Amino acid sequence: MTGNIFDDFLSRKTLFVDKEVLRHDFRPKKLPHRQSEIEKLTFNLVEALNGHIPSNMTLYGVTGAGKTAVTSYVCDELEAKGREINRPVQTIMVNCRQIDTQYRVLSHLGNSLLESHEIDEIPFTGWPTDRVFGELVRRMDGRGGVFVIILDEIDHLVRKAGDDLLYNLTSINASLKSARACVIGISNDLKFTDFLDPRVRSRLGQSDVVFNPYDAMQLQNILRQRAEGALVEGALDDSVIALCAAIAAQEHGDAR
Ligand SMILES: Nc1ncnc2c1ncn2[C@@H]1O[C@H](COP(=O)(O)OP(=O)(O)OP(=O)(O)O)[C@@H](O)[C@H]1O
Ligand SMILES: [Mg+2]
Repeated sequence: MTGNIFDDFLSRKTLFVDKEVLRHDFRPKKLPHRQSEIEKLTFNLVEALNGHIPSNMTLYGVTGAGKTAVTSYVCDELEAKGREINRPVQTIMVNCRQIDTQYRVLSHLGNSLLESHEIDEIPFTGWPTDRVFGELVRRMDGRGGVFVIILDEIDHLVRKAGDDLLYNLTSINASLKSARACVIGISNDLKFTDFLDPRVRSRLGQSDVVFNPYDAMQLQNILRQRAEGALVEGALDDSVIALCAAIAAQEHGDAR
């Protein structure tokens, strides 16, 4: 046998232009049908660029409604604008399904503020929680500016570990001297605030945004945009997109 066993497969024609675009965690540059949600976040977070504290927010919506994608898009834009006009704004997003205790979230936040030359990481376990919190405050003040802390899938952490983390983070401005912070909680359970202490509920619920499920027409547009970036022209009949959108809309409007 001559040649390499992969030669034949490598030279075959493919239907894909860019398979990355089809990944469920791929974030397209444009997010159709989420203009009003993007505007609500932008309207609030612009305060950070003015050096003020934005309101805390809670974002709700079913799975696949674009909550994470929209928030990370808005955060990227916010940080880019901050760099451009020289206003220090830092966004930190934590997935509370993966990082699911108060200690781990606080140490993760603190360690994400280490400069590359610093090595004194907050240990994975072992410190009293108030020491981790104090260290986080110290590092935030060291950097200064406005921090936007995003707790994605926060309902999981609250159900598992209660609302102490939210209580502490929504009162962090009382401990900060030069830095400022706001908290954005993301949940796919509309009722998750029922589990919260009334004080935490009112602090976190300063501004709520509900992401409604996509309907079939909206899903068609989203899918079409995706297919255009991922597949060669003519690879997909439009009726396939219509069918996929109809099925997804029947389930619960999940764009994933
Ligand atoms: N408006 C949109 N335009 C294009 N793609 C979208 C849009 N909304 C969602 N998507 C796609 O669907 C995927 C899932 O969206 P996202 O992760 O933001 O959902 P979610 O609301 O955070 O869901 P979950 O509650 O399960 O975390 C995204 O990675 C993105 O690829
Ligand atoms: Mg999400």
